[in-house]
Amino acid sequence: MRMPLIVGNWKMNGSLELVEQFGTAFAETGLPSSVEVALIPPAPYLAAMQAALAGTPVALGAQTLSPEPKGAHTGEISAAMLDEFDVRYVLVGHSERRSMYHEDDAAVLARAKAALAAGLVPVLCVGETLEQREAGQTEAVVLGQLEAVFDGLDDEQRKRLVVAYEPVWAIGTGRTATPSQAQEVHAAIRARLGEYDGDLAEKLRLLYGGSMKADNAAELLAEPDIDGGLIGGASLKTNEFLAICQSAG
Ligand code: PGA
Repeated sequence: MRMPLIVGNWKMNGSLELVEQFGTAFAETGLPSSVEVALIPPAPYLAAMQAALAGTPVALGAQTLSPEPKGAHTGEISAAMLDEFDVRYVLVGHSERRSMYHEDDAAVLARAKAALAAGLVPVLCVGETLEQREAGQTEAVVLGQLEAVFDGLDDEQRKRLVVAYEPVWAIGTGRTATPSQAQEVHAAIRARLGEYDGDLAEKLRLLYGGSMKADNAAELLAEPDIDGGLIGGASLKTNEFLAICQSAG
């Protein structure tokens, strides 16, 4: 049985005040024990978020990391630094990083390896653009992004990832993939994972991301191959995010 995972990605949003609000909300509201929850604030808030989440079951995540271990890389953050703040999850290959910051498949693999080497869990994001979907390339694009990372890892490393399917056309647009559209791609990802290893396919968690909200989370999470969500906009409001966490329980 795969434990559902709900991850909130604040992107470049939030404030110290919002960190405190979430800390209070999680301390006051019990989470279902059958769900794992993680929050990903912008890097300057990691220490405050770590403190705010202390005593709650919510894990901490980071939005990106450098592929390099240390040195002259102004503006970058290493995996070892994230580890010092008890960061558990780190996003790699988010479509915003791919499109705005030119992170190609090789860069995504390098980041995944750096995360794994420090004991972090990479959340590998994959997804097609609207043009690619309309050209019938969804599976080829998504599986290509998956293979670019999984081919570069060994059996033991592959088991330590989480994969998030995030159709680019659904991110921040309010246009969610239908449960059956999402399930179809998740099933294709799981089938491809099965070609590496049946146990990997059975155990690896596949999240859906792209305008997931309190009012559509339950129907998406009811699909057999959707094991959780990567939530952007709806992770900025305590009530909305807690409602999504509850619906995964
Ligand atoms: P969204 O973002 O929920 O605001 O669509 C999802 C994501 O980019 O992870």
